[in-house]
Amino acid sequence: MTVTDAMFSPETYVETRKPLDQATALPGWCYASPEWYAREVETIFRKEWLCVGRGDQVPNPGDFFSIEIVGQPMIVVRDRTGRVHVHSAICRHRGAVVTEGSGNCRAFVCPYHGWVYSLDGRLTGTPGKPPPMEGVENFDHADYGLAPIRSETWGGFIFITFDPAAPPLLQWLGDLPEFLAGYGLEDMRWTYRDSYEVPCNWKIWLENAFENYHVPTIHRKHYDPANPQHWVFEHGKGPWHAMFGKRSIGSFKGLPEISTLDAEKASRHYHLWIQPSVQLILNPHYVKFRQYMPLGPDKVRLYENWTFPRATIALPDFSEIVKGYYKYSEIVEEDYGINPVVHRSMATGAYRPGRYSLQECLVHRIANYVLDRVVGPDARRSRKTPASKAAE
Ligand code: FES
Ligand SMILES: [Fe+2]
Repeated sequence: MTVTDAMFSPETYVETRKPLDQATALPGWCYASPEWYAREVETIFRKEWLCVGRGDQVPNPGDFFSIEIVGQPMIVVRDRTGRVHVHSAICRHRGAVVTEGSGNCRAFVCPYHGWVYSLDGRLTGTPGKPPPMEGVENFDHADYGLAPIRSETWGGFIFITFDPAAPPLLQWLGDLPEFLAGYGLEDMRWTYRDSYEVPCNWKIWLENAFENYHVPTIHRKHYDPANPQHWVFEHGKGPWHAMFGKRSIGSFKGLPEISTLDAEKASRHYHLWIQPSVQLILNPHYVKFRQYMPLGPDKVRLYENWTFPRATIALPDFSEIVKGYYKYSEIVEEDYGINPVVHRSMATGAYRPGRYSLQECLVHRIANYVLDRVVGPDARRSRKTPASKAAE
């Protein structure tokens, strides 16, 4: 068996497939190998629904932003009629990228030869003197609009998929919309985001974000022993898993609770993973969403986005108080200190996979989700033991 055969053989992962209390972590190549990453792109990122942002990031006609997902540049834009589109940003002439920025515009003009595209993606002009496309046989502008990317929305979030056969978004989400109904996500407004380019595999940061075992060490500066980080795990009937505790490690004060939350949700702070690459951080005061955009096996772009209810944003002192919330970036910086270190270890070939703590339930879920997609579902997965059930 070659190394590549072993890499993609289900037999290799028997120890990771075991229940949490018996399981071993993934080998380093799952984080560092270009072959493995290529398979993830094909079986995960080109198949699933992926969140590109929110409609309220482009509130006015002509507002747009560009985003790149697994190497595909795209534009999210609101047209004159108020409809949001997601287009490929690749010019239909000879492949330049039409825009890499954000802002407001009346049309997109390719920087290479100046082809002009309307907000809804139609090719509306190929200007020049003498007219450069004159005499070109059977050239019809209608055939050369920006390629549309399949997109659907839920709760104000815009999702795209590269897979024409993917089920409708709402069907794919399963019971998640019902689970989050109390947050009034439609009514949230995006206010701010931090963006980080991190030299580590996307799963290394994702796994870090879904365990609190590292909080007393990596985040000791913020860790308050009076606020023990005890987390409970919850699994949905859909592509999501969550963990909740009483409070975030950050102490956020000053803004009101989301008025529509029931007493149970209002007493919990959730980290919720929507497969493969969205993290919702649901606090009684706000909803954050983090997007994990792989830029290769060894690099990830993180967008850390804040949203608040419209009524909260309308408070006269909102912009002053919210600065205390945005200080959460200090905690992200601490994770930035450790995740690239772990990545480098994965790439050495010297890492021998370790064992999970029962606090790493979602790390184990992430590993098994990736194995399901990349290697194939494990028909022989062991039944859960009472210990692992208790842990989950
Ligand atoms: S590549 Fe865009 S106009 Fe030529
Ligand atoms: Fe952390």
